[in-house]
Amino acid sequence: MRNPLSKTITQIEPSGIRKFFDIVAEMKDAISLGVGEPDFDTPWHIREEGIYALEKGRTFYTSNAGLMELRVEICNYLDRKLGLKYSPKEEIMVTVGGSEAIDVALRAMLDPGDEVIIPQPSYVSYLPCTKLAGGTPVIVELKAEDKFKLTEEALKAAITPKTKVLILPFPNNPTGAIMNYKELEKIAKIVIDNDIYVISDEIYSELTYNGIHASIAQIDGMKERTIVINGFSKAYAMTGWRLGYAAGPHIIMEQMIKIHQYAIMCAPTNSQFAAVDALKNGDEDVARMVEAYNQRRRYLIHTFNRIGMECFEPEGAFYVFPSIRRFGMTSDEFATRLLMEEKVAIVPGTAFGNCGEGFLRVSYAYSLDNLKIALGRIEAFVNRLDIKL
Ligand SMILES: Cc1ncc(COP(=O)(O)O)c(C=O)c1O
Repeated sequence: MRNPLSKTITQIEPSGIRKFFDIVAEMKDAISLGVGEPDFDTPWHIREEGIYALEKGRTFYTSNAGLMELRVEICNYLDRKLGLKYSPKEEIMVTVGGSEAIDVALRAMLDPGDEVIIPQPSYVSYLPCTKLAGGTPVIVELKAEDKFKLTEEALKAAITPKTKVLILPFPNNPTGAIMNYKELEKIAKIVIDNDIYVISDEIYSELTYNGIHASIAQIDGMKERTIVINGFSKAYAMTGWRLGYAAGPHIIMEQMIKIHQYAIMCAPTNSQFAAVDALKNGDEDVARMVEAYNQRRRYLIHTFNRIGMECFEPEGAFYVFPSIRRFGMTSDEFATRLLMEEKVAIVPGTAFGNCGEGFLRVSYAYSLDNLKIALGRIEAFVNRLDIKL
């Protein structure tokens, strides 16, 4: 029989995040701090809207771009939060999570050989989706000494005549780094000078702890060359509803909608009705969850630094990224031993790019009680290592 598989797909590695969690599932008393999924339930009034949509028989396809009522609310939200004005008819597309929006944006913009600058460590889908879209990933390594922000020097060094797209992954998974308006202005200047487009993944925009979230699309000359990606999974604890969106210039959105139309048709209808309610009435719930995340964030930064796992202060998302360099082990060795000896699962930094070596991603989308037990076990592990050092 001939090989049924495409060379492109067989050369792509599966996500490194899942590896440990198959082991954890079988291990009694194991604690996982590994998954990037809110521990909160979707707020009840949002769930009710989803249920009500089903009860009312709202089980039809929506328009490919999404319910107009939802697109209008997305525009209101982007205006209210960022002062960005989009046309609900021409510049918004509702997708199956931010994940689909990232994939479709890349597929709509890339021709074979076009280069996509991907700052790492960062979310696992950018690189494979770039390859699947025929593009060539160009990795920029973010550094702890730059607080894992993208610097002008690093960006300039990565640009070639083939650069078409820059992915801006802030607030960042896995480091928790953010970029403020002033820092984004410097990046925007380089982007405009070199005629590059930006995919700005702002899925964690609501989870920003010191100050307010800024989008590169707010800067003069950038809205027309930026696709803003966002969604409901993280801010509203709606991962399983599978709902996100892209906002961007019509010339790109109309092509993105074609891909979505043929591959997906439309995002889940009852999720779209629920999302209208999330945007209209969800602010207080978001504030409540952000407050809880912030408390956990402060606890983790303090504790990791106290036990000698140096931890830079993450200002967004729900991850901390402590260093394990002083133990002379790889991230994978540390994570594997921690799981086997103390039954705590965390993700090696290398799951987010090679430059994640020497770090671990710890998610605080877990209750404070759970975090305290896990940190007690990590401290015991580190104390044993310290005796041997
Ligand atoms: C940075 C980032 N972008 C996008 C996503 C995709 O989220 P969803 O498809 O649930 O909207 C995730 C999920 O973990 C993420 O961490």
